[in-house]
Amino acid sequence: MAFGDYQFEIYLQGLAGVLPAFPMTYAELEAKAAAALSPSVWSYVAGGAGDERTQRANVTAFDGWGLIPRMFVGAAERDLSIEMFGMRLASPVFMAPIGVIGICAQDGHGDLASARAAAATGVPMMVSTLTADPLEDVAAEFGDTPGFFQLYTPKDRELAASLVSRAEAAGYKAIVVTLDTWVPGWRPRDLATSNFPQLRGHCLSNYWSDPVFRAGLAQPPEENPQAAILAWIQTFGNPLTWDDLPWLRSLTDLPLIVKGICHPDDVRRARDGGVDGIYCSTHGGRQANGGLPALDCLPDVVAAADGMPVLFDSGIRTGADIIKALALGATAVGIGRPYAYGLALGGTAGIVHVLRSLLAEADLIMAVDGYPSRLDLTPETLRRVT
Ligand SMILES: Cc1cc2nc3c(=O)[nH]c(=O)nc-3n(C[C@H](O)[C@H](O)[C@H](O)COP(=O)(O)O)c2cc1C
Repeated sequence: MAFGDYQFEIYLQGLAGVLPAFPMTYAELEAKAAAALSPSVWSYVAGGAGDERTQRANVTAFDGWGLIPRMFVGAAERDLSIEMFGMRLASPVFMAPIGVIGICAQDGHGDLASARAAAATGVPMMVSTLTADPLEDVAAEFGDTPGFFQLYTPKDRELAASLVSRAEAAGYKAIVVTLDTWVPGWRPRDLATSNFPQLRGHCLSNYWSDPVFRAGLAQPPEENPQAAILAWIQTFGNPLTWDDLPWLRSLTDLPLIVKGICHPDDVRRARDGGVDGIYCSTHGGRQANGGLPALDCLPDVVAAADGMPVLFDSGIRTGADIIKALALGATAVGIGRPYAYGLALGGTAGIVHVLRSLLAEADLIMAVDGYPSRLDLTPETLRRVT
């Protein structure tokens, strides 16, 4: 079935008097999620660094490009599948790691709900280190869809190795190391309410369940959560340097992807250091304000990657955004906040709706504009909007 067929499903249900259960536009999705989430979780998810200029620019950067329609192509069938790290994936999108996705669900198990959405849609989930349920339990819900594990590298190298080997044992297909979050960015919304979920013990299950982490505690986290949180604070953020890359590389034979890379020199150095994939992202504008939108960094990153896969996120809100990121060279495109909002509204079903809607729109744009394959989407198919 083509992704675009989701629209026929919706129209046909309409004939039976059934309207879509979830919003059809991002604006409505966001507004309804704001009402559904607790104020503290909402501000944590929706907010960003500084006055959120980079966060907004990530989104508006997509308005600067337009796809040129081509006619007489007869793109009756479209192929959005991609090949990445030896895997054939049905869709070019994945769920970006969201550390508090667990508590975006009404039942507090959003990681499991997201993994079930991955199973239902074939859209891979990249699972954060910061989950409400341990990474093994999340992986058990993936079905046939591959999953990726995102590592926040702790200062304790033995703990880092333990997390990576647990991810390997649980069947994750790649390790993604996030480089831009060893310290939280300056986030006025969260500061105003003194709200940092992990300090309240949320989404630390991968630490609580880790034998190396537990061995370093005088009492187990269940008995003395405050001491465990303190131990977590002390180890969480490792300000990695290039000297750490050989060690990171040595931790796994799985594909190693580095997240937060926006400069072509960093791409080349990472490549020389043996990474398998680059993840171009500005962390949704949550970490550093005043930067370039991620989309503007993408072309140079792709050029420097020289054929190595480039994953991309930050600002994807519509199917049209997916198309533009692919055309600018992204191998795969990460969905962030939109799936968190779908989850808040309807658990797994809410995420499935969001992902299917994004893919349907992308697919239908390719149909209408005459680009039958993902490979037809090249930078030459875009023009700058003036
Ligand atoms: C609430 C929230 C939590 C996040 N947690 C993580 C995380 O644990 N690890 C990570 O690498 N990125 C994390 N990110 C960043 C996302 O992976 C992604 O880069 C970002 O959401 C993309 O921006 P967008 O959502 O505005 O499209 C988080 C983003 C949000 C919104």
